[in-house]
Amino acid sequence: MDKKKSPVYLIGFMGCGKSTIGRRLAGRLGADCLEMDEILAKRAGKTIAKIFEEDGEAAFRRMESELLRETAGQAAVVSCGGGVALRQENAAQMRRTGTVLFLAAAPQTIYERVKNHTGRPLLDGHMNVEYITELMEKRAPYYEAAAEITVRVDGRGIEEIVDEIVALLAERPGR
Ligand code: S3P
Repeated sequence: MDKKKSPVYLIGFMGCGKSTIGRRLAGRLGADCLEMDEILAKRAGKTIAKIFEEDGEAAFRRMESELLRETAGQAAVVSCGGGVALRQENAAQMRRTGTVLFLAAAPQTIYERVKNHTGRPLLDGHMNVEYITELMEKRAPYYEAAAEITVRVDGRGIEEIVDEIVALLAERPGR
């Protein structure tokens, strides 16, 4: 498969910067940016929180996997929801059809970025570093296993991170 025509999947914990970095990266690569949560909310005609509340997490995860399958073959940067890489079928599909890049962040970094935001049902009533650390410990092995490239974001600016990603992608044969 010609990876130049394939997606770059950004994965990682809620609040690690996938959406912001995704938009900037897409601009640099001249590609579209697909923000999965945004597309799913538009499709459902309601917020992610409402989908969780009214349809349940399992329904949300099915919608996510379906959308992910549609991204194969698109020259796009796909900003994945934080739970996407946890499903084996999603991880396998991303690796088969694109390049998977993990934005790694420390729990404290995540907390600073998400603490003033609502709309993330999994953090409802758990907005603290301890809970984020616990959830991240459970999830990190999945992110690491799915990723082909890992970039750390702690204490770094968007441009610096995007520069690094552009350089790392350029090094990859077939991209
Ligand atoms: C989730 C992350 C969210 C969103 C949903 C579930 C998760 O996306 O998909 O709230 O399981 O980590 P962001 O990572 O963009 O916040």
